[in-house]
Amino acid sequence: MVNSEKLQELRQLAEESIQKAQDARTLNDLRVKFLGKKGEITALLKSMKDLSPEEKPKFGQMVNTVRAEVESAIETHMAELEAKAREAKMAAETIDVTLPAKKMQYGHAHPNTRALEEVERIFVGMGYEVVEGPEVEYDEYNFEKLNIPKGHPARDEQDTFYINDSILLRTQTSSVQARVMEQGKLPIRMICPGRVFRSDAVDATHSPSFHQIEGLVIDKHVTFADLKGTLDKFAKELFGPETKTKLRPHHFPFTEPSAEVDVSCFKCGGKGCRFCKGEGWIEILGCGMVHPHVLEMCGIDPKQYSGFAFGVGLERIALLKYEIDDMRLLYENDTRFLEQF
Ligand code: DAH
Repeated sequence: MVNSEKLQELRQLAEESIQKAQDARTLNDLRVKFLGKKGEITALLKSMKDLSPEEKPKFGQMVNTVRAEVESAIETHMAELEAKAREAKMAAETIDVTLPAKKMQYGHAHPNTRALEEVERIFVGMGYEVVEGPEVEYDEYNFEKLNIPKGHPARDEQDTFYINDSILLRTQTSSVQARVMEQGKLPIRMICPGRVFRSDAVDATHSPSFHQIEGLVIDKHVTFADLKGTLDKFAKELFGPETKTKLRPHHFPFTEPSAEVDVSCFKCGGKGCRFCKGEGWIEILGCGMVHPHVLEMCGIDPKQYSGFAFGVGLERIALLKYEIDDMRLLYENDTRFLEQF
């Protein structure tokens, strides 16, 4: 009987394919291929019309038996596949509690932060308050009230990022001096750390954004000797008790007289070395006695009060203190560099 041979062939083919199937989708495709409406086994039923009346029921029964067997083979294999998948998932998710734990990566303070904390510690120890001011600032505070009117050449040296004619990214933390003095609470003894901006191209000693620490003291009878003594103490605390300081006359529009402060090289003790470029001295900050006109513009009577101010570059301190020779390293966030501090 040709038809029944064909049926047995299909059954064998179906069972082999089912055994080989690796996933539910393949199994479903096989179900359609053999048992679906247009399936190959189903098609045999349609060929029954050519059989004799005696053969018809017998063959029909055979087909149904095979259908049931194939269906059950599919179900069984499906269940096996599911069980296997579950086992694999369980195995993959097992936690081996005996494995060593992953090490926590601990960070630490950035060299800039450490330098700032050091400077703050020194001045807070001398009774200074730490204040902050805005990074987006009025021209008035950044320049005008510091004796730098429109057209003053000192503006060119600090060319910056303007928001509009009267608002800019501050070029110096000196802007906070005017803000604090204006509040009229005297005496003043403050430092103000913060970010400043200048349209400088990046190189080993320049960046369009860096940090300064401003200092301001206003009281009755404050003299240049107080300024000298304060900065000398600061330098000794920061770079070691052997450190000497030297003031060189300089000009800043908002202080009179003004000076730049050098410290004796803490590497060679002042003899001259590679670190201080043979000078024996290293420049660290600008300072001076607050200009009487600045006091006046900020509502303080220069006949009663006097004061001094200074401005330190934070990066400069960090580079010196930690002997870093390129400012860019401070901003690149390369952990191989940062880990060394
Ligand atoms: N603001 C100055 C600068 O950026 C630094 C400075 C100099 C600040 C003298 C001062 C000062 O307070 O008295 O170059």
